[in-house]
Amino acid sequence: MKGVVLAGGLGTRLYPLTKITNKHLLPVYNKPMVYYPIMTLVNAGVREIMVVTGGNHAGDFLRLLGNGDEFGLKGVNYAYQEKEGGIAEALSLVEHFAEGDKLVVILGDNIIEKDIKKEVREFAGQPEGAKILLKEVPNPERFGVVTFEGDRIAGIEEKPEDPGTNYAVTGIYMYDKQIFDIIRTLEPSERRELEITDVNNRYLRKGELTYSILDGWWTDAGTFESLLRAGQLVAEKERGTKDKG
Ligand code: G1P
Repeated sequence: MKGVVLAGGLGTRLYPLTKITNKHLLPVYNKPMVYYPIMTLVNAGVREIMVVTGGNHAGDFLRLLGNGDEFGLKGVNYAYQEKEGGIAEALSLVEHFAEGDKLVVILGDNIIEKDIKKEVREFAGQPEGAKILLKEVPNPERFGVVTFEGDRIAGIEEKPEDPGTNYAVTGIYMYDKQIFDIIRTLEPSERRELEITDVNNRYLRKGELTYSILDGWWTDAGTFESLLRAGQLVAEKERGTKDKG
C-alpha cells in the first residue's frame, strides 16, 4: 500500500500565521506539523509516500523533508497542486504514483495518539472499496459526520448544521484504484471544492465503504483552538513517553 499526505491549501483559518508559510510547516510542540502524518504512515509500515502541496511555499517542503532520512525512508515523492480545488482535487494528482495500488491518505493537519497498523492491515485484506476512520468528538459540526442504521453507515454529511451523531470522519482514508474514476465524476461543492465526503458517499452507495473507530485521541490542527490543542496533546504524550522511558 502507498501513502499520501495532503499538505496544500491556504490555511486561511490560521491567518496571519499562514501569511508567510504553509499551515503544515507550523510547529506542533517540537516538530513541524507535517511530520506527524508522515510518522503515522511510516509507523503503519507504509514506505512509499507522496506529499501533495501547493502555493508559494512548496519548496520549503523539499528543504524540510528532503529524501525522508529522518523517517527512515529511501525517498519522498512530491506533487504540486496548482489550484485550490479541495481534498479530492489534490488526490487526483497522485494517480500516476498509485499505479493501481491501494492508498492510505492522511490530511497533513491530522495528528493521532496511537497508530493505524490494524486498520491498514484490515484494508489490505479488503477485496475492494474504501475504508474511513471515525472518532467521537464534542463538536461534530466542524467535520464530515456519519449517520448510522444499526452499525452500518447510512450517510455522510460535510459540516452539517445539525449533526445526526457525534462521529466525525477523520482525515485518514483508504482507497482502492476506483477513486480516480470517482473523482472524475465529481462536481464542485458550494465552497467550490471537490469534496472528499462526496467520494466517500459514492463508495457507500456502491456498498464498498467500511469503517473503524480510531483508538486514542485524534485532532486536526487547522484552527487556532485545534492547533493549540494539538500541541498540548503531543506535549503530554511526549512527557508520558519520557516518564516511562
Ligand atoms: C476535512 C474534510 C472533513 C473531515 C476533516 C478532518 O475538512 O472535509 O470531512 O472531517 O477534514 O480533519 P476541512 O478541515 O478540510 O474543512
